[in-house]
Amino acid sequence: MQFGIIGAGVVGLNTALQLQEEYPNAQVSILADQYVENTTSYVAAGIFRPGNGFVGPTKEITKKWVTDAYNYWDNIRKSSDAPLAGVTQLSGYIFSTKSAAMTRNALLEDLLPVYRKATEEELDLCLGGWKYGSFFTTLLTECRLYLPYATQKFRASGGKFVEGKVESLTKTGGKYDVIINCSGLGARELCKDDHLVPVRGQVVKVKAPWIKMAFYGDYDTYIIPGFEGVTLGGVRQYDSWNTSVCKYDGMAIRERCFGMLPSLKKAEVLREVVGLRPHRSTVRVEPELLEDVSGRMVKVVHNYGHSGYGVTTAPGTSKYAVELVKQVLSASSKL
Ligand SMILES: Cc1cc2nc3c(=O)[nH]c(=O)nc-3n(C[C@H](O)[C@H](O)[C@H](O)COP(=O)(O)OP(=O)(O)OC[C@H]3O[C@@H](n4cnc5c(N)ncnc54)[C@H](O)[C@@H]3O)c2cc1C
Ligand SMILES: *[C@@H]1O[C@H](CO)[C@@H](O)[C@H](O)[C@H]1NC(C)=O
Ligand SMILES: *[C@@H]1O[C@H](CO)[C@@H](O)[C@H](O)[C@H]1NC(C)=O
Ligand SMILES: *[C@@H]1O[C@H](CO)[C@@H](O)[C@H](O)[C@H]1NC(C)=O
Repeated sequence: MQFGIIGAGVVGLNTALQLQEEYPNAQVSILADQYVENTTSYVAAGIFRPGNGFVGPTKEITKKWVTDAYNYWDNIRKSSDAPLAGVTQLSGYIFSTKSAAMTRNALLEDLLPVYRKATEEELDLCLGGWKYGSFFTTLLTECRLYLPYATQKFRASGGKFVEGKVESLTKTGGKYDVIINCSGLGARELCKDDHLVPVRGQVVKVKAPWIKMAFYGDYDTYIIPGFEGVTLGGVRQYDSWNTSVCKYDGMAIRERCFGMLPSLKKAEVLREVVGLRPHRSTVRVEPELLEDVSGRMVKVVHNYGHSGYGVTTAPGTSKYAVELVKQVLSASSKL
């Protein structure tokens, strides 16, 4: 059995590892043009927090993806691999001056060990005159560590990489029993999918080891400590393809974050980076049969469009994608 996975971001690598587990005798190959530090995944803060805008095909499926993903990351966190894989526990606050609803999260409230309303005293833990707040304990996956870790694990189980851009399925499809499309924003071109839109993000990564908690404020402001440094954000610019660092975005991010925690002014800047979130109104995890140039049917399973929540949810949608691979194969064996 031959599987071809397009994409080496957190979604592609997760799918690859889960396929290897399900099919230990199969040859799994990852086809991608960008790796590790050149992927969107590398830019992410990696906090486990699906936004209220994270939507799968149904409520039940969305909930299952999020729960499966949480259990996957939490099992790594509890294992001796945690520091290698870059998975840890993280607590934090989400504050708002505008609305209590912004501090709520239906998916997380059912799932996390702690998700509760912040007390009056806690609302004063950082500057901003906050009116509403929640406290939660969640997970964080640092892709700077996780992508190399997953790569090594994939290789150790016999996985192969095919470097370069996949121009079309018609040239690539034939070799593989199933192709799994984990191409993130690349799917827009590859899949002619106009529902996929970039939501541009920019972050400042700083060295501030004294920050031990995550803080979210109004207007996409966040301070998220990771293994390497603290991620300060952010912006969400719909349909913007610009991958250059914008100094005005950087200034706005600093002003908002320093306004919450002035000690961040003293932090050394590690890097300032931009990433394009692969946004889709619903994440696409579904099978498709496509005809290639020679008229042969090629089996495809899609797994893309995770928007700003791909690190959070990748293991859950990947598990679902592997189920679809099984279904697609058993359906064709009955033909
Ligand atoms: C500023 C910012 C902060 C974020 N913070 C978080 C966070 O805290 N938590 C969270 O869960 N998520 C966060 N995200 C979102 C997260 O980064 C994405 O959802 C996730 O990285 C998507 O993963 P992916 O594997 O689909 O895509 P990518 O990481 O972009 O990988 C796509 C892969 O597909 C390959 N590819 C695409 N097209 C082709 C082609 N034609 N041929 C060959 N290869 C191809 C690329 O080379 C690449 O390897 C953040 C994003 C940004 C921008
Ligand atoms: C990322 O891109 C740069 C510039 O194209 C390249 O030099 C580097 O090798 C790439 N990194 C990886 C891990 O592919
Ligand atoms: C991904 O899926 C789309 C169909 O939605 C297809 O056009 C495209 O060729 C696929 N890419 C690959 C390489 O599987
Ligand atoms: C992209 O952003 C940079 C930095 O803000 C800016 O100088 C440049 O003009 C932008 N490019 C386009 C094509 O808009």
